[in-house]
Parts: sequence; structure tokens; C-alpha cells
Amino acid sequence: MIYLDNAATTSPKPQSVINSVSNAMRKYSINSGRGGYKTARDTEEMIYSVRDTVATFLDAESAENVVFTQNCTTALNIALFGLLKSGDHVVISPFEHNAVLRPLNQLAQIGVEYTIADCVADMDNCKKAFERCIRKNTVAVVCTHASNVCGAVLPLSELSDLCREYGLHFIVDGAQTAGILPISVQKSKIDCLAVATHKGLYAPTGTGLLVTDSTPNPLIYGGTGGDSMSPTQPKEIPERYESGTLNPVMIAGIGAGVKFVSPMQERIYKHEMRLLKIVENEFKKNSSIKTYTIPNAKIVPVLSFNVEDKTSSEVAMLLDRYGIAVRAGLHCAPLAHKTLGTLDRGTVRFAPSVFTTDSEIEYFLKCISKISK
Ligand SMILES: Cc1ncc(COP(=O)(O)O)c(C=O)c1O
Repeated sequence: MIYLDNAATTSPKPQSVINSVSNAMRKYSINSGRGGYKTARDTEEMIYSVRDTVATFLDAESAENVVFTQNCTTALNIALFGLLKSGDHVVISPFEHNAVLRPLNQLAQIGVEYTIADCVADMDNCKKAFERCIRKNTVAVVCTHASNVCGAVLPLSELSDLCREYGLHFIVDGAQTAGILPISVQKSKIDCLAVATHKGLYAPTGTGLLVTDSTPNPLIYGGTGGDSMSPTQPKEIPERYESGTLNPVMIAGIGAGVKFVSPMQERIYKHEMRLLKIVENEFKKNSSIKTYTIPNAKIVPVLSFNVEDKTSSEVAMLLDRYGIAVRAGLHCAPLAHKTLGTLDRGTVRFAPSVFTTDSEIEYFLKCISKISK
């Protein structure tokens, strides 16, 4: 199979990640933070070293700011439910994923409001579009770093400046960028960064993390291994958010993923963008294909398109018959499709990875050409 659905999760995973998970399964199938015996201490040390690796990679203040979660959605839920209260207002981008929208719509029931910043017409002045939405009760900017539908990147440093000027929390959904674009939590003064480690960081599926120093209220309460006499949740990060048994095996996989990406992040981005440009240029020559992009936006390697008047799922199904995996539909981001004008039929999404080859792209283009005839 030729896998071009890497915006959903990267596949295959690097051999180093597979080895590390398999090794961890043997060595670290232990309940960390609970026992004082050697294997428990070793497991704890390994987990700490992964926190440290992540903190260095994302330029977080310290390893303790790294909280492991089961995916990016959980990290976003901790940030949103933990920081927002009745009467608060937040400004969001017009590209938000349901991982942001659904928690916000749930929070609307207790009186949290949100406004969508209309920044697409003038991406160069994104900050102004967000600023226009700020009200007296605005407490946060919540925005995806890049759209999972059209790849458009939001300017973190400008939005961060805005948050500092107005004293707002800055909550960033880094699902499509961590591992692809450099992110500095400290320089961009991000209060909560949610990461889908299973995407651009090539970690196992079912992994994610939150980098925070803002102590939102926890989403889950329970045992954390220490201070068992205390009837309440610890204040310290990461324990505050990591109740119950951790998953050292998958955490080892996160560490291996970050180590795989970190020395070649820029090369990975260039490789994927080169492949995306080949596809985009070929699509431009084919009048049956329509691509969806935002003028003046920097992008990550994600391209949405449709073929003639076929539905996106029809095209994905035909590609599947040729052994090519792509995702069709709304990609859990109806707001982004509303912004792009594709809410009615969705799009087919092309997303390469570091492992995608030129010959796979050639074959993909041949198949698309057949489908569009
Ligand atoms: C922009 C964006 N945000 C959030 C998510 C949710 O990530 P996860 O599946 O790890 O919860 C995704 C996943 O597709 C995404 O693309």
C-alpha cells in the first residue's frame, strides 16, 4: 500500500521507534512512580529522560512541563476545560479541528463564548484579525498552528505578541506541526501546547502530550503514586494531570520518535514540501482537479483537492483500489471546510511523510490522471 494519509498519523513508523517500543515492552512493563525497587526506578528514569528530550526539542522550560496524554485531543481538553470558566470569551482561528470546537461548544453550555477571527482574506495581517475579536472578557487565543485540511500555517509569534499585549492565555494545537516546523514554547510564550506525537513525531498511535506551565484544572483525578495521604490532586506538573498507571512502553516510543525527527526536521519538511509541489504542479495542468489553498499562507505538507464533480469519498475509494491510502471527507474539521467552501463534499487530502518516495508520487499522479479521465 502507498500511504499518503500522514496528516492522520504517520505510517510506517521508523525502525528505531519499533525497536524502542519492543525493547520497552520487555524492560519497562512496570508501574512507574509506585514502587521503590530497581525496575520501577529504571522505568521512572526512562520516562523522565523522554520528558527531558521532548522539553529540549520543543524548547519548554523544563521536563516537568511535559505531560503525557493518549492523544492531542486529550491535551486540548485538559487545556480548555482546565482554564476556561463561565463568562470567559476566547478567539479562535477559522481552521479549528473538532478537538477544539467540540470542547468549546460543550463549554458554551456553562457560558464560555468564542469568536472566529476572520484572517483568511489577509493572512499577512492575521494578528489584526484576531485583535478585532478581543472583548473585555476575552481570556485566551486558541488556535491551530496549521490546518489539517489545507496546511495553512498561523503565525505563532504574532499571535503570541497579541496574547502578551492583552494578557491572554495562548493555547496552541500543534497536531499538524510538532516535528514538522520548529516550535519554541518559551519564545512563543505558549501557555498550553497540545501535540499529536503519533503524527509528525512518528511515535506510536495513541500517544500525545501537553506542554504547559499554566496549571489548568485537571480533567482526571486519582492516584499519582506519591503523597497518597492527600485527599486532593497534587498541584505539581506533570503529576497533576497523569493520574493512574502511565504507559512507559509508548512513552519510550515518543522518545525514539523525537530522536528520529530532531536531527533532520528541516530536511523532512523540505522533502515533503518538494513532493507536495510536484503534486500541486501536476494538478495545475489538469483542469479536472481543483486544489484548495489560502492566499499568502505558509503551508505544511498537506494538500486538499477534488476531482471533477466526484465526491471526495468516491475518489478515495478509487485510489484505494489502486492501493493508495488517502483520507476523504471533512477530516474532523467542518469549520476549515466552511472556510474553504468545501463543506458540501469535503476534500481528498494528500499528506506525504519522510518515507514517501518519488516513485510513489509518480504512481499516485498516474492513478489520479486515470481517475480524472
Ligand atoms: C489540527 C488537529 N488537531 C487535533 C487533532 C487531534 O489529534 P489526535 O487524533 O491525536 O487526538 C488532529 C488530528 O487529526 C488535528 O489534525
